[in-house]
Amino acid sequence: MEAPQETHGTQAPEVSPLGGAGAAAEPPRKPRTVALLNQKGGVGKTTSTVNLGAALARYGQRVLLVDLDPQSNLSLHFGVECAPEQRTVRDLLLDPECRVQDCVQRARPGLDFVPAVTELALVEGELAQLEGMQAVLRDKLREAWGDYDVVLLDCPPSLGVLSVNALTVADEVFVPMQAHYLPLRGLEKLLQTVHLVSQGLNPSIRVSGILLCMHDGSSSHARAVIGEIESQLAQFRGVDVPWSGAAVLDPAVRRNIKLAEAPSFGKTIFDYAPQCPGADDYRRLALGLIDRWGLPHGGFEGMEPAAPRRPRAAKSPKRPKSPAKAAAKSAPKPRRAAPAKGAASTKSHARAKAAASAARPKAKKVGRPARAAAARGPAARAAAKSAKRPAAARAPRAPARAVRRAARTGRSLRSGGLSL
Ligand SMILES: Nc1ncnc2c1ncn2[C@@H]1O[C@H](COP(=O)(O)OP(=O)(O)OP(=O)(O)O)[C@@H](O)[C@H]1O
Ligand SMILES: [Mg+2]
Repeated sequence: MEAPQETHGTQAPEVSPLGGAGAAAEPPRKPRTVALLNQKGGVGKTTSTVNLGAALARYGQRVLLVDLDPQSNLSLHFGVECAPEQRTVRDLLLDPECRVQDCVQRARPGLDFVPAVTELALVEGELAQLEGMQAVLRDKLREAWGDYDVVLLDCPPSLGVLSVNALTVADEVFVPMQAHYLPLRGLEKLLQTVHLVSQGLNPSIRVSGILLCMHDGSSSHARAVIGEIESQLAQFRGVDVPWSGAAVLDPAVRRNIKLAEAPSFGKTIFDYAPQCPGADDYRRLALGLIDRWGLPHGGFEGMEPAAPRRPRAAKSPKRPKSPAKAAAKSAPKPRRAAPAKGAASTKSHARAKAAASAARPKAKKVGRPARAAAARGPAARAAAKSAKRPAAARAPRAPARAVRRAARTGRSLRSGGLSL
């Protein structure tokens, strides 16, 4: 294969990867290959691989997803139970005779995937004994170049040999993460690993995008962390590191419960809730990438215009009260009858009142401990003040404060991570 075809850079392809006149004569081009990698668990790698892949397929791309995670969550997203004879990514990596085509399952039109199995956890050890173990996946995927336009690699939450295999074949790395302080710190290790791979196994690899998942744009903490990521990345523009062109991908994927529900029905978000914010985010993300990669595309299959919002119903005028109700309202309210002298003693009335107040839930009084304590002196006042605040408010909040300070002063957080 000629070297320039193995990587894409940012140039638009001269020949449509979807085929066309003369395309058959061309040797197959390498599909755009992206590793979704973060050694931190539960950040949105699998959700993004599945739904970004599904969106790209609906835009007409031929997409292959590879499940490199022994948890095999990607396979679960498609509601596919692997038959015992089904060949998986484990076979692909360990059996020299096994080809991608032997393992592929079709999830949707234009969307294939290579499933994983739990035993994949053992592969790390077995692969370690093979020579050239970091490049096994690269060599296998090469045989399927002509079949796909985009390959997405769902990495496990670790930086072991499975992730290194993904990095060895990938053109780009997307880092799904939440815009929180701790995940930001985890970025350092990830970038070091990519750096190592770029120094030998895959010199052209690039970390191109931070993909914000489960994003809450209304939180000032998230905004501060994004500002921090952007300013840290900006320091590396023009520097010879794989993340010199990295940016926060637009749009961020909002937190949306539909994305968490969809896999339990074995569906992608476009099958499950195509009009929800999560579907919209992944669709827009896919369109941005297709444009960036210069891939041809048609419309988004199955896209129906969002249902128009129903105008709020005008307030209906108040119905006139029935004469009986109106008369009852205007009639003077009967005063509470005072206990008749002699009929019940004042003492027993007071006792009943005290019993009733004891029976009433105490919670009502909790709101005003300070006022009650004011009458009892400064010590009681202090105790009441601390009792008034909920426990969460008294917990230490150093990271949040640090982020806010960083946002205000422009001084960097101690993210440490990007100071390679
Ligand atoms: N935008 C979102 N809104 C709400 N829930 C989400 C969103 N993205 C992901 N989730 C949920 O968060 C959980 C973790 O997501 P996911 O499995 O994609 O993370 P992961 O990085 O692949 O995890 P692991 O490292 O364990 O493989 C899942 O339950 C998923 O449904
Ligand atoms: Mg996962």
